[in-house]
Amino acid sequence: MKKIVLLVVPILLLIGFNDTKQTSMKENKNQTIKQKIDSLIKLMTIEEKVGQMNQYNGFWDVTGPAPKEGNAEKKYEHLRKGWVGSMLNVRGVKNVLAVQKIAVEETRLGIPLIFGFDVIHGYKTLSPIPLAEAASWDLEAIKKSASIAAAEASASGINWTFGPMVDISRDARWGRVMEGAGEDPFLGSKIAEARITGFQGNDLSQVNTIAACAKHFAGYGFSESGREYNTVDIGMSTLHNIVLPPFKAAVDSGVRTLMNSFNEINGVPVTGSSYLQRDILKGKWNFDGFVISDWASIGEMISWGHAKDKREAAKIAVTAGSDMDMESNTYIEELAQLVKDGFIDEKLLDDAVSRILRVKFELGLFEDPYKYCVETREKETIGNPKHHEAVLDMAKKSIVLLKNENNLLPLKKEGQNIALIGALAADKNSPLGSWCIASDDNTAVSVLEGMQAYENNSLVYNKGTDVSLGKTTFVKEVKINTSDKSEFNDAIQAAKKADVVVMVLGEHGFQSGEGRSRTNLQLPGVQQELLEAIHEVNPNIVLVLNNGRPLAITWADEHIPAIVEAWQLGTQTGHAVAQVLYGDYNPSGKLPMTFPRNVGQVPIYYNYKNTGRPVDKDNNVFWSHYIDVNNTPLYPFGYGLSYTRFEYSSLKLNGSSFSLGEEISVSVDIKNIGKRDGKEVVQLYIRDLFGSITRPVKELKGFELVNIKAGETKTIQFTLNKETLGFYNNESEYVIEPGDFKVFVGGSSAETVEADFELK
Ligand code: NOJ
Repeated sequence: MKKIVLLVVPILLLIGFNDTKQTSMKENKNQTIKQKIDSLIKLMTIEEKVGQMNQYNGFWDVTGPAPKEGNAEKKYEHLRKGWVGSMLNVRGVKNVLAVQKIAVEETRLGIPLIFGFDVIHGYKTLSPIPLAEAASWDLEAIKKSASIAAAEASASGINWTFGPMVDISRDARWGRVMEGAGEDPFLGSKIAEARITGFQGNDLSQVNTIAACAKHFAGYGFSESGREYNTVDIGMSTLHNIVLPPFKAAVDSGVRTLMNSFNEINGVPVTGSSYLQRDILKGKWNFDGFVISDWASIGEMISWGHAKDKREAAKIAVTAGSDMDMESNTYIEELAQLVKDGFIDEKLLDDAVSRILRVKFELGLFEDPYKYCVETREKETIGNPKHHEAVLDMAKKSIVLLKNENNLLPLKKEGQNIALIGALAADKNSPLGSWCIASDDNTAVSVLEGMQAYENNSLVYNKGTDVSLGKTTFVKEVKINTSDKSEFNDAIQAAKKADVVVMVLGEHGFQSGEGRSRTNLQLPGVQQELLEAIHEVNPNIVLVLNNGRPLAITWADEHIPAIVEAWQLGTQTGHAVAQVLYGDYNPSGKLPMTFPRNVGQVPIYYNYKNTGRPVDKDNNVFWSHYIDVNNTPLYPFGYGLSYTRFEYSSLKLNGSSFSLGEEISVSVDIKNIGKRDGKEVVQLYIRDLFGSITRPVKELKGFELVNIKAGETKTIQFTLNKETLGFYNNESEYVIEPGDFKVFVGGSSAETVEADFELK
C-alpha cells in the first residue's frame, strides 16, 4: 500500500490539491476548482473517467432490485482499479472509512468517492414524512428539518442525499406521494428550495452539510393510473407549468445534483431524454452539477424497448446527459469501448466527469476525504436531544385537523375515561415512515405512549385488529390483515365504557413509498368495519389517521365527529399527536394534496381546467361531471382547521388596472374570531381568465404563516409580479398575457374572498 501512496501524492501536488489558500470571491474559487478539474482530467485514462461515472450499491442495505449474488468481490476489485466514483447505501463512519480508504489509498489517482444515501425525512432521528412536513407550509421548519437530517447523515459518513423528491403528483394511488410536497408547483418549489438550503447550507464544504439531489427528473409523479414505474403521457403545458417548476427552483437554489427517473415521457425513457437533460437542464437552466440515473434505469431502457442492449443504452444515456450510472453496470461495461470504437466522443465523458469532480471538490473531499468519518462526532450528533426537540416541533406543525364537530377536541385533561383503539396506536415502527433505513426498529414514540404522558385521565388501550401481519421491511410487501376480527369485541367493550374513543387507523408506514401503489384509498383491511362497529356503541370518536397519501374516508367524514390527519410523523409521533389532542398545541397544518371522495375521482386537484362544459343550468347530463358523485373533493387542497377560527375581509388591491411588469399589491384582513391564539396559513391564488394556453381555475401564488392572537386582526400584504402572473407556453417560453384576472385569498383553496384586476 505504501508504494501506492507514494504514487498518489505527487499527482495531488501536481494539480495543487494542497493549496489551502482561501479566496473570498466565489468566482475565484470556481476558477480554481475548474483548473484543478482540468488538470486531473488530463491525467485520467478512459477507464478511470468511466469509473467516476459509475456508482455501486454497498454491501448491506438494498434500495432497489437486489444486485447479483456474489458481486461484492467484483465491486472491491473495481474500487481498487479506480473504476468506481461513488457508492450508495454505505453508511456509518467505520464502513465509509474502510471503503473510502480503498479509493484514496489504493487507486492510481486517489480520487475520493462520494457517498450517497436516501436521507429523505431524517437519518436516525426521523422527521415526519415529506408530505406531512409539506402540510406545515412552514418553510423555516422544513429547512431546519433537512439541516438536522444533514447533520446526522454527514456525521455518519454520508455526503450526498438523494433528496428532496420534488415530483408533483395528483394521484394518491401512487405510493411515492409520501416523499414529495404534494400537488402544487408553487408550494412544491418553495419547499424544494427550503429542503435544498437545509441540506446544503450556504457552504457545501462545511462538514455538517451534504449535497442535495432533486429527483426524479422528470414526470414520474404522473405515472399512468398511479401504478409505480408506469409510463407517463403528459402534454407540454403540464410538463412546463406543473412538473418542471420545482426542478427549476431547485436549480436556482443551487442544488448540486439531479436524479432522473424510471418513466418515459412521450415515448422516450427520461434517462435517455436529451430534451430534458441537455436542452432544458444543462442548456436553458445552465445547471453545472451532475445528473445521476435512478437505480438501474439506464439498463431498463432495454425493457422499455428503447435500447436494444446495454451498449446502446449506455450510448443513449451518456449522449442525453445522464452523468452517473446507479447500479445498472452499463457504463462500466460499455462506455470505454464505445469511446475506443469511435461511437462516443470522449468529450462527453470529460463533461460528465468534470461535473462529478466539481461536486467532490465543493464538498472538500479532495482536501480531506475522511472529513465525514469522525467517530466522536458520529456519537455526539446522532440522536442528539436537540434533534428530537426539532422533529417533535416539525411533527406538531405537520398535523392537519380535518373535522371537529361540537369542539370535541381538544380533549379534557382530567376526569375522562378514554378508550384508545387501533394497532397503529401502539405501533413504534410504522410511524417512522417509509424511508427509515438508517433508524433503529421500533424507535418511534407511539400514540399510546404519548397519551400516557397525560396522567389525569383513565386510558384503556385495545388493539381491535391488526393492520399488518408479520414483520414488514423496506423491501418486502406489507401483508394486510383482511379477515381477523377476533379482537373486535374487546375494543367494543372498552368503547362502551368510555367518555371518548380515540381511534388510530390508517396505513402502515410501509404501505406508501416506492413500489407501493394502491387501487383502493380506503382504510386498509378490516379497519373500516372496526370503525363502524365502535361507532355503533359509542359515536364520540376522535379518528387519528396515519397515512402516507390522501385517503378516501367519506364514511368517516359523515359519521365521525373529530378527525385528525397525523400521517407518519417520525420519531416523536406520539408526543406530537397527544399534544394536539389535548390542546397543548393548536393545529395549523393545511393539506398539500386534495383528498378525494372516492378513488374514481383520482387524479383530483384544485388547479384543474374549467373545461368547455363546467355546468349545466338546466340540470341535463351534458356537462363535465359524474352521475354518482359530486365533482368536489372531500377535503380540498390548502384545507385545515384550528381550535380557533379566522375570518377574512377587506381584500384590497392598489388599483384595478395595471400595465405588464407593474407590481400589484394585495392586502387582506384576517381576524381571529375564536377564543384561542392560533396560526393561519394565508393563501393567495389567482386566475388568469383567458389565455393562449388555457389557465387553471385557481393557481397558488403566495402564502404566509401568521400567528394571530384571540380577538386580534392582522393585515397581510402580498405582491403579484412578473414571476407570478405568467405561465409557460408550449415552446417552454415564459409569457405574461394582458387580460382579466381574479385574485383570491383564504384559508383554503375552496374558501376565499376575491377581487378582480386587469393587465394591460
Ligand atoms: C430508487 C428510487 O427511485 C430513488 O428515489 C432512490 O434514491 C434510489 N432507488 C436509491 O435508493
